[in-house]
Amino acid sequence: MSERTLVLVKPDGVSRGLVGEVISRIERKGLRLVALELRNVARSVAEEHYAEHKDKPFFGDLLEFITSGPLVAAIVEGPRAVAAFRQLAGGTDPVEKATPGTLRGDYALETQFNLVHGSDSVESAERELKLWFPDN
Ligand code: TYD
Ligand code: MG
Repeated sequence: MSERTLVLVKPDGVSRGLVGEVISRIERKGLRLVALELRNVARSVAEEHYAEHKDKPFFGDLLEFITSGPLVAAIVEGPRAVAAFRQLAGGTDPVEKATPGTLRGDYALETQFNLVHGSDSVESAERELKLWFPDN
């Protein structure tokens, strides 16, 4: 049984030249890229993407950051793809939660600039993929 998940390489990952590293780890894990695009995200899309956080104190900064430059959006597919990519990403706080060997554990220092996004459940993946890739 295959799943699909949304992966974003956030603007920090693009500007730091880490897109290839993220894609490489996805492929080495055995996951498959179904779609991949460099794009600038509209504020409205960012607000909907992060709607669950709209009342959090970091919401404004999060929107500013995610719309601050190009990001890479990808559809990633494979068995248990949602959990598998979350494992590759590591915990949200790249120092306190993400362990070495994960993308965030290896390449990030601050929660706001934690390099990647991955859908947190199959339900979230369905919602996010409709938002980011309405034609797929
Ligand atoms: P969240 O959905 O909790 O984490 P994840 O990306 O691991 O699913 O939060 C979304 C993003 O919001 C997170 O990747 C970075 C940012 N964020 C902050 O800037 N500060 C915070 O305290 C938290 C919890 C998140
Ligand atoms: Mg999340």
